[in-house]
Amino acid sequence: MSPPVIDVRELKTHIVTRWGTIKAVDGVSFTVAEGETLGLVGESGSGKSMTCLSILRLVPRPAARIVGGQVLLDGDDLLTQSERQMQRIRGKRVAMILQDPMSSLNPVFSIGMQVREPLVSYHGLSGKALARRAVELLAAVGISSPAARLRAYPHQLSGGMRQRVVGAMAISAPPRLLIADEPTTSLDLTIQAQYLRLLKDLQERHRLAMIFVTHNLGIVAKMCDRVAVMYAGRIVEAGPVEMIFGAPRHPYTRALLESVPRLGAQTEWLTAIEGQPPDLAALPPGCAFAPRCAHAMERCRAEEPSEFSLGAGHTSRCWLDRPA
Ligand SMILES: Nc1ncnc2c1ncn2[C@@H]1O[C@H](COP(=O)(O)OP(=O)(O)OP(=O)(O)O)[C@@H](O)[C@H]1O
Ligand code: SF4
Ligand SMILES: [Mg+2]
Repeated sequence: MSPPVIDVRELKTHIVTRWGTIKAVDGVSFTVAEGETLGLVGESGSGKSMTCLSILRLVPRPAARIVGGQVLLDGDDLLTQSERQMQRIRGKRVAMILQDPMSSLNPVFSIGMQVREPLVSYHGLSGKALARRAVELLAAVGISSPAARLRAYPHQLSGGMRQRVVGAMAISAPPRLLIADEPTTSLDLTIQAQYLRLLKDLQERHRLAMIFVTHNLGIVAKMCDRVAVMYAGRIVEAGPVEMIFGAPRHPYTRALLESVPRLGAQTEWLTAIEGQPPDLAALPPGCAFAPRCAHAMERCRAEEPSEFSLGAGHTSRCWLDRPA
């Protein structure tokens, strides 16, 4: 097997707040290979975005700090690079698409200026070659009349089109790793489906490693090869998509799957997972899910479960999965 494009080992990111130190990312490890998509799922506040931002070293400062671990991109540890080296890595070797395209586009510059910028700085293009490549990129993400759109400003495009422009910028290098953090939440349903197809297509064409963050498990099933389920800053279960959906083991994963209405089910309501999401500044000892877990045992409240292998790349952090 080829070595992973990204190999995250025991990543830890802490945030200092008035209420205490939050372990937003608390020892997260995973790998993503070329051409593979890892889905990152979990409730709001479980640390998905902070994990992604930590990879790019873009955590909100000064409150947040990466305090441990390694982020190996094709073997280079991003956590030990200088800020200058990171500036070259961002956009060129790792690209990120965020939920709100406006946060990636500058409202005061034309689309053309923003699309051309990485082509100039990373590829040294100029003149006709630069103009041609900018048009090609917009056309590649399905934007009609690309030459005219390059003259437009972000506010003159629809949300779907803006997200496509961000997609075009993300693949301009093209990168080795593409991180998409809720990239379709701001889009309406039909545009969502088109945009997902586009992303999948770009990913397959360029054999990108992709980390895909979403709340939508239906999208995970379509887009991802493997899934990592986060709870309270940790990955509590991970494995091939068919195992996570077909044979979930961790009580939290099961609760998450049960909170999604089945196709054709009578109810349209989501079943909320019982109990409150954890307060990351005051986590209980032992398993962080214990206060909400119907299977919690005495041991769960005293000792944190380690990661147990269930075979075939399937892992779970639950005492119930401890080998006998
Ligand atoms: N700028 C910040 N300042 C303080 N705490 C923050 C900040 N950003 C995130 N956090 C905290 O870090 C933890 C992880 O947040 P993160 O944004 O990674 O969650 P998430 O899984 O991406 O959630 P969502 O699904 O809502 O996007 C949360 O407890 C959150 O409150
Ligand atoms: S370790 Fe215990 S509390 Fe945690 S998920 Fe497993 S059974 Fe539930
Ligand atoms: Mg998030």
